[in-house]
Amino acid sequence: MPIIAPSLLAADFLKLGEECSMLNESEADRFHLDVMDGRFVPNISFGLPIVQQVTNATDKICEVHLMIVEPEKYIEEFKNAGADVLIIHLEACINLHRNIQQIKLLKMQAGVAINPHTPVVFLKDILADIDLVCLMSVNPGYGGQTFIPHSIEKIRQLRKLIDDAKLNVKIEVDGGVTLENAKQIVEAGADILVAGSAVFKAADPKEAIHEFKSI
Ligand code: DX5
Ligand code: ZN
Repeated sequence: MPIIAPSLLAADFLKLGEECSMLNESEADRFHLDVMDGRFVPNISFGLPIVQQVTNATDKICEVHLMIVEPEKYIEEFKNAGADVLIIHLEACINLHRNIQQIKLLKMQAGVAINPHTPVVFLKDILADIDLVCLMSVNPGYGGQTFIPHSIEKIRQLRKLIDDAKLNVKIEVDGGVTLENAKQIVEAGADILVAGSAVFKAADPKEAIHEFKSI
């Protein structure tokens, strides 16, 4: 049964409290919060005050996906804003290993995200130090994009890398995940599905989450 992490990027921000209650009542396992700075990605989403309010509104695990340059400058701020899992981009970190240690020192789980053009083998020497890989199956920056088919092959490669090393690193797939392609993604080896539009734009979001859980 996959772990489901709805992305609040697709939520109705004018009804954020209700959206959080809906997720709390649903079978969603964790909240996925997408922070964008207009530099690492072409879009700007939301920042610390929103993350703080959302984490206050739930007892579920909150993972923050930082699509920002120099994420190391904000590790402590996101810890204080209630992040349980902090995901930083390999492409944004010159000293990735150090930044992972900084996250762990603050007692958060550490995740590394990779863009569609980044080979999974680039993770080989950091895998033993992290809890999660966020494999981007769209170019980061926007919700509602189409799943890049080559991601399936990358999930398989990453699964093998993790299993061969006998590690317990979770594979999260983020971008363009739908009820139609979720089965294939899980079969390729994914543990966590991030879903924005497929949850929040559904006629019945709780039912959509239930269907994702039933895969
Ligand atoms: C994209 C974000 C994703 C996004 C997913 O940059 O990292 O988390 O919200 O949205 P959907 O599921 O609509 O592709
Ligand atoms: Zn994300």
